[in-house]
Amino acid sequence: MRNDEALRIGVFDSGLGGLTVVQSLTKVIKGAEIFYIADTKNAPYGEKTPEQILQYSLKITEYFIDNHQIDALIIACNTATSAAVKILREKFPQIIIIGTEPGIKPAIEQTNTGKVGVLATPATLKGNKYQQLVNALAHEKDVVLFEQACPGLVEQIEKGKKDDSSTKAMLEMWLAPMKDSSVDTIVLGCTHYPLVAEMIEYIMQRELNLIHTGEAIAKRLLALGQEKGHDNEGALKITLYSTDHIDQDLVTHILGKTMNIKQINIGKNGTYQ
Ligand code: DGL
Repeated sequence: MRNDEALRIGVFDSGLGGLTVVQSLTKVIKGAEIFYIADTKNAPYGEKTPEQILQYSLKITEYFIDNHQIDALIIACNTATSAAVKILREKFPQIIIIGTEPGIKPAIEQTNTGKVGVLATPATLKGNKYQQLVNALAHEKDVVLFEQACPGLVEQIEKGKKDDSSTKAMLEMWLAPMKDSSVDTIVLGCTHYPLVAEMIEYIMQRELNLIHTGEAIAKRLLALGQEKGHDNEGALKITLYSTDHIDQDLVTHILGKTMNIKQINIGKNGTYQ
């Protein structure tokens, strides 16, 4: 990073869910340029193989490096972090790389009932990274984990159906065992799921800790950015790229109306093959 330049941050997810991380970044990071890719052409990642997810992640990172000379990469996706963070760090040691992991540790710290729910994509729950995380924390406190894969939930959210009765029915089914067992803390192990947080609270009908890690990612980026000379002053610019259709209402719902965001579909104009 040169002194006269703003910190350049590439952020990606399979869709708009990762904007929940960008929302956290906007509260902490100043004087930077954010380039976001919603890879809607290949969504949902959570139902793809680790090899496919790795290929999508490599291609996006190369796109960011070639077109925007990014200083930092935020993998705003638990699923892609699980499949690709290790290889991305090996391949691109010159950039700051921060992944997203289910917040099991804060959940274990916050639960009073000792019952913690984990909602994530099938690929995240099946991945070695998740298993390693759970094994490493298993001895910290006597806690029972209720792990639940949520196939189809990312599509519902991307289609603008986050408040639909069909989404509610899915969540009711997945949350029933947690509700019956006094789960008081739920890890939102996919960056799309904060978008259904209210519905989860409504279904659980109890005081609930909902854990997502956007704020922790933003603080980590600030600390690592400052080490590279980022002064964290001035305006924040955001460009939102997508590889296929995105739901405009969802963008506004997450980032608000006031933020001026440039939007480009790179899937259609041939820039991103
Ligand atoms: N937001 C992604 C995550 O955090 C969703 C992945 C998907 O497309 O299934 O896991």
